[in-house]
Parts: sequence; C-alpha cells; structure tokens
Amino acid sequence: MAEAFLQEEALFARAMREADLDRVLSIERRAYPHPWSRGIFNDCLRVGYHCRVYEQEEELIGYSVHSVAVGEAHLLNLCVSPAHQSRGFGRRMLRSVIEEAARQGADTLFLEVRLSNHRARALYESEGFNEVGRRFDYYPADGGREDALVYARALK
Ligand SMILES: CC(C)(COP(=O)(O)OP(=O)(O)OC[C@H]1O[C@@H](n2cnc3c(N)ncnc32)[C@H](O)[C@@H]1OP(=O)(O)O)[C@@H](O)C(=O)NCCC(=O)NCCS
Repeated sequence: MAEAFLQEEALFARAMREADLDRVLSIERRAYPHPWSRGIFNDCLRVGYHCRVYEQEEELIGYSVHSVAVGEAHLLNLCVSPAHQSRGFGRRMLRSVIEEAARQGADTLFLEVRLSNHRARALYESEGFNEVGRRFDYYPADGGREDALVYARALK
C-alpha cells in the first residue's frame, strides 16, 4: 500500500506503525470505557490487519482497523479522538474504510457495535449498514455484560 492513500481537506490517512501506538492508546483509553490493550493493537499489526491512522497537520485525529478475508471485511475499530468528535471525521474515516475494503475485493463489510452506542449506530445506519444479528453479552460493561449488534453493508 502506498504510504498515503487519502488526502482530502487536511485529513491525511496512512498505515499505522508500532511507533504510533503511544498516541493511539492515549486516544483509545479516553474514547472507550473498555479500551483495547497495546497487545491487541500489536497483534493487529503483526497479523497484517489494515490499521490506519488519520492525521491533520501531524495531530492524530483517529484510527481504524479492518480485516479482509474470503470476500468479507470486518471493521474492528473506528475511533476519533474525543477532542475532535462530532466534526465529521468519523464519517470520513468510515467512508475511507468502505472504499479501501471494496478495493481489496470484499463483498460485504461487517462490524459489531454496543447496543448503547447510539452515536456510532446512527453513523453506521446513515452510511448504509443494516443490523443483521445480535451477540448476547458480547462486551464487558460496568456491572455486567452488554449485547453487540452486528451490522453489515454490501460493498458491490
Ligand atoms: C462513533 C465515532 C467514530 C463517530 O465519529 P465522529 O467524528 O464523532 O462523528 P461524525 O462527526 O462523523 O458524525 C457522524 C454521525 O454520528 C452521529 N453523531 C456524531 N456526534 C454526535 C453526538 N454528539 N450526539 C449524537 N450523535 C452524534 C450523528 O449521526 C452524525 O451524523 P450527522 O452529523 O449527519 O448528524 C466517534 O464518536 C468515536 O470515536 N467514538 C468513540 C469510539 C466508538 O464508539 N467507536 C465506534 C465503535 S463501534
């Protein structure tokens, strides 16, 4: 992959590197109540998942992680720094993943989202994702577990 694959209105996307992980983890821990560990990000990089960071004048705005195998793409993480949320960056990052997964030959993009994550659900639904399933007690949650909704969107 070319180092830079998206440049639009000062949002610059490139492959995530291990050297980015301090900044990525700083955002991850502020953005999620149950954040991924450094080990999970390292595993994603090691196995060749498509890990992207999105920058504006070298400030890290957000990141995404997706995988592609046998025609199926899975969006595993999509996160905007809390300081930059609700400014359209999440939608642009999601569209970038959709375009890249389609270029990589996937027919369908799947993702899981917490039932209570109304902001993310609104974003996904407005970008053409449909609810196709539910995983009960999938996520850790304060005081128990929380269901995941499975969303899918055709890419062709
Ligand atoms: C979910 C997330 C990626 C959305 O990115 P964002 O940059 O904040 O969102 P955008 O500005 O692109 O807005 C996209 C849509 O999200 C919804 N949204 C955004 N901000 C919102 C807010 N403050 N309240 C309610 N809905 C909101 C709206 O539907 C919005 O569409 P609209 O602007 O046409 O109304 C981002 O908030 C985030 O990283 N959250 C924490 C991590 C997370 O939950 N990731 C998703 C895991 S599945």
